[in-house]
Amino acid sequence: MGAHFTLNHDSSAFRINEKLLQRRIVWLMRQNNVADHNVSILLVDDEEISWLNSHYRNKHCSTNVLSFPFAQENEQYNFTLSIPEKELGDIIISVQTAAREARKLDVSLHDRLTWLLTHGLLHLLGHDHERSDKEALTMWELEKTLISQLKHSRSSQMPHLAINVDHVATVRNARGIAEPDPVAAAAICELAGAAGIVIHLREDRRHIKDRDVRLLRETIKTRMNLEMGANKEIIEIALDIKPDMVTLVPEKRKELTTEGGLNVAGQKKKLAKTIKRMDKAGIPVSLFIDPEERQVKASHAIGATYVELHTGRYCDAIGETEREKEYQLIASAAEEAYQMGLKVNAGHGLDYQTTQRIAALDTIEELSIGHAIIARAVFVGLDQAVREMKKIVRDASMIY
Ligand code: PXP
Repeated sequence: MGAHFTLNHDSSAFRINEKLLQRRIVWLMRQNNVADHNVSILLVDDEEISWLNSHYRNKHCSTNVLSFPFAQENEQYNFTLSIPEKELGDIIISVQTAAREARKLDVSLHDRLTWLLTHGLLHLLGHDHERSDKEALTMWELEKTLISQLKHSRSSQMPHLAINVDHVATVRNARGIAEPDPVAAAAICELAGAAGIVIHLREDRRHIKDRDVRLLRETIKTRMNLEMGANKEIIEIALDIKPDMVTLVPEKRKELTTEGGLNVAGQKKKLAKTIKRMDKAGIPVSLFIDPEERQVKASHAIGATYVELHTGRYCDAIGETEREKEYQLIASAAEEAYQMGLKVNAGHGLDYQTTQRIAALDTIEELSIGHAIIARAVFVGLDQAVREMKKIVRDASMIY
């Protein structure tokens, strides 16, 4: 029982998060009391949907969605076979049209597909906007209500929260003694629910030291993400200790923290070489970039597994207009990267106010957060600071 997706050849030009759509359609079916039924969903291209529209509905044009209720199909062809009671029928969507509509409406492809799935499902359940204006209005209202309820429903997929413990090392180093230990901090973060630990081994070792890297490699139970500049010495260390992944960042000696994203487009050759070396050692590489199309494209072109989108400008934005603009840049870069097949992380400057909207983006796999959590930990304790952030991430991913 449930929804069965089939993706045809041409729609594979788009990257479809099937799991996410599956979750949404199952939720929609449950909401309409047909969770114990089957629905078949076929994602096609314009050419195929035009053919189906013409062949089965005598309409010689392309469209965004077609629905063929099982009962109707059988009536039309006068089947004498016994009809499986729990079959709702087929929903067929042109991904090409959905993508064009998404761009026009300024929503993500998955949100547009969700709307089309809702529309198709209502048709399968007997609604028809073509019968009368009254029915059209009822169907439209139902769609709006369902989508709005879905947006506030619980989702099972939330971005991973990876915690950067560099600042614990900064406090330790200020005294030149052994406390507080980032190794202990990482363990507390994991016990409180962190899905990964991030450390930045800088050339000047201003916070994380070589000893920390070695010990953390042995003690981290989740995933170790080693942030680093593409520098010869650090590359050798990474290849030796083999973190679960590395994130390449630009590194300037005088900066307080990583200031901007990597200019991948401007140093493709050098970065591609580093990615290749890591690849050979089985270490996936993430590139920390500004949310810009050309950087996403360049990251994809040189074989990165992940991009981490720089959220600093969004977090630092003054005023709602500016923040919204920065948010939209992140949302569309995330969608673009996801569509190219990249895994998408995000981070820098995220705090207890700014994290929610980023965590709600369904294309984001992992959030990398450091300063806000360690700063809050000074007052409320590390365990609680992590749990509070995790709750924000979890609640955000419930919205859709
Ligand atoms: N991601 C990257 C690539 C970073 O360089 C940093 C800062 O070390 C972070 C995420 C975390 O930023 P913040 O400490 O502001 O949460």
